Amino acid sequence: MSNRSVVTLERHIVEEERRCPEATGAFSNILYSITLAAKIISREVNKAGIVDILGGTGDTNVQGERVQKLDLYAEDVIFRALDHTGALCCMVSEESEDILPIPKEFPKGKYILIFDPLDGSSNIDVNVSIGTIFSIQKKVSEGEDGTLEDCLQAGCKQIAAGYVLYGSSTMLVYTSGQGVHGFTLDPSIGEFLLSHPNLVMPDPPSRTYSINEAYYPRWSPGQQRLMQRLKGLDGKEAESYSSRYIGSLVADFHRTLLKGGIFMYPADSKSPNGKLRLLYEAAPMAMISEQAGGGASNGRTRILELVPEDIHQRTPLYIGSAGIVEMAEGFLSEDD
Ligand code: AHG
Ligand code: MN
Ligand code: MN
Repeated sequence: MSNRSVVTLERHIVEEERRCPEATGAFSNILYSITLAAKIISREVNKAGIVDILGGTGDTNVQGERVQKLDLYAEDVIFRALDHTGALCCMVSEESEDILPIPKEFPKGKYILIFDPLDGSSNIDVNVSIGTIFSIQKKVSEGEDGTLEDCLQAGCKQIAAGYVLYGSSTMLVYTSGQGVHGFTLDPSIGEFLLSHPNLVMPDPPSRTYSINEAYYPRWSPGQQRLMQRLKGLDGKEAESYSSRYIGSLVADFHRTLLKGGIFMYPADSKSPNGKLRLLYEAAPMAMISEQAGGGASNGRTRILELVPEDIHQRTPLYIGSAGIVEMAEGFLSEDD
């Protein structure tokens, strides 16, 4: 018998559950159901060029963005994989303006699932990595139905956070506060297998920055000076950084998690709160980053301390190696 036992995601969840005496299995049930949805979405993503789920629906979503067929397909798969579990009291999706209630025919539970069903939509039609991001909060309001109060909790209250990356392989990365663990889907057996246990951002980090530089003219003076530093133009850095930008947060963050460096989506003169959404993009990634020894800031404050006022609230995001995030905060504080 080889000594490298095959650890499936299911086995990992059971072993994690054993370590939490108060665990009721509801949380594990949510994670199982998310992995089922991930396998179904992965299957469709990997044949997107064949079946008619490419392109836009012709609609725009609450964000004012063109809705891709795969965005809605992914939302529907996730909703229906979890709506009957009895573990959730409501859901929040990037693609739906309001809270998604649990259908009355199903039992309700004490968790809230908040998700970006398909992240990196602009990359779907060009066969570049895309993903799904999820965040799990615990109910705090009275009664069995989920309310806005349950959804608008700070990121530091998250029970768990994770993402699925539909790339050259399909990976699921998650944390429930006990470190960050990566699983790779083996399509031949339909199982996510533990491939990256206890992920920690490398130190020293890769000197890589990730940002959409087209917006440079719209950035604050502090952000522009930060870019001069990262490019070695102010003569202060011994060696300059390299630049990588995929345009899918899940892919850009996954590289940052594995190699170190920094991903930035700053505020700018047109978008004073940046583009990325706090509840289902920045906060889950921030929990993962901090659990892996990294940092996550809006340029001045820890992402995990921000208390949302709206379920689709946007935030600037600086995430990655803690030392580089701190350096970025230093430059941005000059704007105050
Ligand atoms: P989504 O597809 O869920 O709307 O997210 C897209 C986001 C994020 O994935 C990425 O980091 C960012 O949009 C890229 O924005 P730009 O195209 O402005 O660079
Ligand atoms: Mn997104
Ligand atoms: Mn999306």
